[in-house]
Amino acid sequence: MFLFDARNVLKLPIGYRTFIRAIGGGYRTVYLRDYVRPLAGQRVLDIGCGPGDVVAYLPAVDYVGIDMDERYIRAARSRFGGRGEFRCQSVAGLVVDEPGSYDLVMANGLLHHLNDQQATQLLSMAYRALKPGGRLVTFDGCYVPGQSRLARWLLYLDRGRYVRDSQGYVALAGAAFDHVRSHVRHDLLRIPYTHHIMVCTRLRTVGRGRVHPEVTTAKV
Ligand SMILES: C[S@@+](CC[C@H](N)C(=O)[O-])C[C@H]1O[C@@H](n2cnc3c(N)ncnc32)[C@H](O)[C@@H]1O
Repeated sequence: MFLFDARNVLKLPIGYRTFIRAIGGGYRTVYLRDYVRPLAGQRVLDIGCGPGDVVAYLPAVDYVGIDMDERYIRAARSRFGGRGEFRCQSVAGLVVDEPGSYDLVMANGLLHHLNDQQATQLLSMAYRALKPGGRLVTFDGCYVPGQSRLARWLLYLDRGRYVRDSQGYVALAGAAFDHVRSHVRHDLLRIPYTHHIMVCTRLRTVGRGRVHPEVTTAKV
């Protein structure tokens, strides 16, 4: 029997790009402007970079993208190879080559693909990669009480098997980072969908103990 799973189309870089554009690719502008806030000249590590599409929205940064999918990495190199370096690697076994050297780490749409153990590994690796004062910014689909049924159904269908609620994401990030700010948005795509965004900071001051994660929720 022939069974067609539309999610297989997303494995192709062109399929992924077309899908993201259709559901509202412009969300990247808002996400970068309001949360990531990249600055020219910064050193940026993008883990789970996919076909590298975010590069088109970045200023002139020193960019390294990592993804475990060879097809995505090939597509990223062919389109954005002149603007950054792309490495085909999985989070499992990822080693920070130059600890404390990045201003910004992004994990866009990655955490919901990782189980708790892998997510913990990713978060501590991101912490080690950052300079003091540096930030990790993440976004993922998120379950929240009262969200639309369609949004819940789409999250259920997601290729990532570890979509969490806000507390689930914050608990993981709070165990690795000094400070975590969390935002829930329902308005970033053309379709009903809930995003959870975290801005996790490695504080400049060392040895003062960990600040309890601060949680803010955008009213949208
Ligand atoms: C939803 S896509 C997001 C892609 C890209 N960041 C974006 O915003 O368009 C999730 C990406 O995470 C990658 N990924 C999932 N698990 C991974 C792992 N264990 N190690 C590295 N990359 C992973 C997938 O290959 C995929 O490219």
